[in-house]
Amino acid sequence: MRVLVAGGDGFCGWPTALHLSANGHEVAIVDNLARRAIDEELGTDSLTPIASLQARVERWRQLSGREIDLEQGDLGDPQLVHDLFTELRPEAVVHFAEQRSAPYSMIGRQHAVCTQVGNVVGTLNLLFAMHELAPSCHLVKLGTMGEYGTPNIDIEEGYIEIEHNGRSDVLPYPKQPGSFYHLSKVHDSHNIFFACRTWGLRATDLNQGIVYNVQTQQTRSDPTLLNRFDYDAVFGTAINRFCVQAAAGVPLTVYGEGGQTRGFIDLRDTVRCIELAIETPPPAGQMRVMNQFTEQWSVMQLAQIVYEVAQEMELSPSIENIDNPRVELEDHYYHAKCSKLIDLGLQPHLLGRETIASLLDEAVRHRDRARLQTVLPEANWRSVPYWGSEPAIARDAALQSAAARSNSPASM
Ligand SMILES: NC(=O)c1ccc[n+]([C@@H]2O[C@H](COP(=O)([O-])OP(=O)(O)OC[C@H]3O[C@@H](n4cnc5c(N)ncnc54)[C@H](O)[C@@H]3O)[C@@H](O)[C@H]2O)c1
Repeated sequence: MRVLVAGGDGFCGWPTALHLSANGHEVAIVDNLARRAIDEELGTDSLTPIASLQARVERWRQLSGREIDLEQGDLGDPQLVHDLFTELRPEAVVHFAEQRSAPYSMIGRQHAVCTQVGNVVGTLNLLFAMHELAPSCHLVKLGTMGEYGTPNIDIEEGYIEIEHNGRSDVLPYPKQPGSFYHLSKVHDSHNIFFACRTWGLRATDLNQGIVYNVQTQQTRSDPTLLNRFDYDAVFGTAINRFCVQAAAGVPLTVYGEGGQTRGFIDLRDTVRCIELAIETPPPAGQMRVMNQFTEQWSVMQLAQIVYEVAQEMELSPSIENIDNPRVELEDHYYHAKCSKLIDLGLQPHLLGRETIASLLDEAVRHRDRARLQTVLPEANWRSVPYWGSEPAIARDAALQSAAARSNSPASM
């Protein structure tokens, strides 16, 4: 299949592009490199040293004999999206290309605006391009389990049957997102649902849980292919932060009581889920929703398992509860359904001591690169400033996109 991977330089996008390429799909990547610009803005960096996107793709070509086409550009640029569809005629678009950090969207007004405008406009441009140029193309869109919030009832996969005043209907599941970032995903879901109903497009909205683990079979096969390892307070998820803290000999910092429970998925299962989704497109006119996670953990349970494995590795860890910068329930019911991807054939890797040990190994190997001052949270949900710092994605992304396009117009 001809597959366009939007956001193919990122944490999920790069291993997915390699996985699809290794499994015989014809892959092209579009990415505006905003994630790398944000590292500079925040004064952080991947714990693993990562090669440039060009070097990654060239190394993959040498090792596998398979080409991955590359376009540096922003999905917010309508001409770029139009040209991509005209030149590539993709049969599936996997859309990872969004600002994906909740804390980033809560730094200040400009960060919230950038996140919502960038995410919503990029998705709209894809939908309009599909409508005009590739109506049978399948959009596989990354949403998040965070769209649902933590309702006091079971979370269904996208839709819920409701009885009201003697009548019943199957309707989109109610959403209670917990940040301006999560809200952008809800806005996307509504736009996609509308485009499917109105234009007969086909889409899969994957409400993904928090992704842990860092490498896949392909990314660990060569140093130039290594995937990024985020551990800072803005982009690093709890497991990664805890592993880096344990490796550095500082306390594992748990937000509040640590009872917050969420859905999690191993990166190796993320890439497989995307493959399963693109290989089983829904019929025209349908927005299929699947909850893409495999298990539930609370923050304190995660701290505990990292603590225990770190102790076995003689790292002398400790756990400290700190004020929760987020506004969220710390003690709540959480039961979300996740059977659709299993029904399609997913065989989950579940989180165990072996995976934690491999993450701790990686954290120890690269601990000299850890910038510990970036691990403690600064953005606070209760006080988001009107005037604040300027986000890198506003400043750089459009410029980079324009420069790249004028330098290499025919790079596809
Ligand atoms: N990582 C997780 O735990 C997780 C969990 C749930 C959902 N998701 C979703 O999966 C997707 C990928 O997440 P990730 O962790 O790989 O994020 P990431 O930030 O590592 O990757 C996103 C990539 O998209 C690029 N990008 C961003 N905006 C763009 C634009 N307008 N045009 C072109 N490229 C753009 C970035 O440069 C980056 O390389 C996101 O949509 C995210 O919301 C991720």
